[in-house]
Amino acid sequence: MSQHAPLPAPGHPTARDGADRSTALVTTRAELTARRVAMTGTVAAVLTMGSLHDGHLALVARARELADHVILTDFVNPLQFGPGEDYEAYPRDLDADLALVEGLVDVVFAPAVQEMYPVLPPTVSVSAGRAGTLLEGAARPGHFDGVVTVVTKLLHLTAPHLSVFGRKDAQQLAIIQRLVADLDLPVRIEPVEIQREPSGLARSSRNAYLSPAGREQALALSRTIQAALAAAPSVRGIRAALADALERAEIDWDYAHALDPATLAPIDGEHRGEVLVALAGVVEGTRLLDAAVAVATAP
Ligand code: PAF
Repeated sequence: MSQHAPLPAPGHPTARDGADRSTALVTTRAELTARRVAMTGTVAAVLTMGSLHDGHLALVARARELADHVILTDFVNPLQFGPGEDYEAYPRDLDADLALVEGLVDVVFAPAVQEMYPVLPPTVSVSAGRAGTLLEGAARPGHFDGVVTVVTKLLHLTAPHLSVFGRKDAQQLAIIQRLVADLDLPVRIEPVEIQREPSGLARSSRNAYLSPAGREQALALSRTIQAALAAAPSVRGIRAALADALERAEIDWDYAHALDPATLAPIDGEHRGEVLVALAGVVEGTRLLDAAVAVATAP
């Protein structure tokens, strides 16, 4: 990747609102590179696995605010799915995705697996390190190695000035921030707030797997987030809210943790400052995540 010109400061949009450009569908790395080289001004990358919803549109909107051009990648990455996970079943509808972002992004890059990985698994890949073995990584061994490998490739291919990532996947965001810092990738990572359905449920492509009853049950996640935020700024209060949710067991919890957002280490009673509340649970066989950042200023 080449070094880029400085970015405009956040809060100073450079792109106009509304659909204002024609969107090109690109499926090869060579064509993507040709399109990228022809772009003048700043570029934002929105990396997705498709099945786009309002959460992704919020990422696109933020990307449009911050950059002159937006490249959206739409690729279900086999490397980040373990054996027995939902790689085959993962929802895919490229036509619907294109309709949703038509006019909002310059390029949709939707390569075939063979195009992204002529050799699968690749001979050389990227490791997410110890952070990739915690939390989601404990439940999904190798998941984050697959994520950082594809993210590294996609950042090289799109060569953006910035890339936007949602805060719902808080561990993914923290690991990608480490990836960029540790490998000196010349890109700014821009976090975007979680998008929620009117019920409070965090938007996710996997919500499509839930029945109406499952969606109701899944609200235990957002209720727990609300309880933890309501207990801030007390560290004790936040931890008590999480312990209470685990005890009530309205869903099959995997974890409900209060963590240091940068290191993902559990916080103790002395912790002050930002606290990442990270939740994971299983509803009707579907693994769901939720997260929020609280600020602790008291025991
Ligand atoms: O968050 C996702 O959708 C994926 O993990 C990502 C970052 C696009 C990599 O495949």
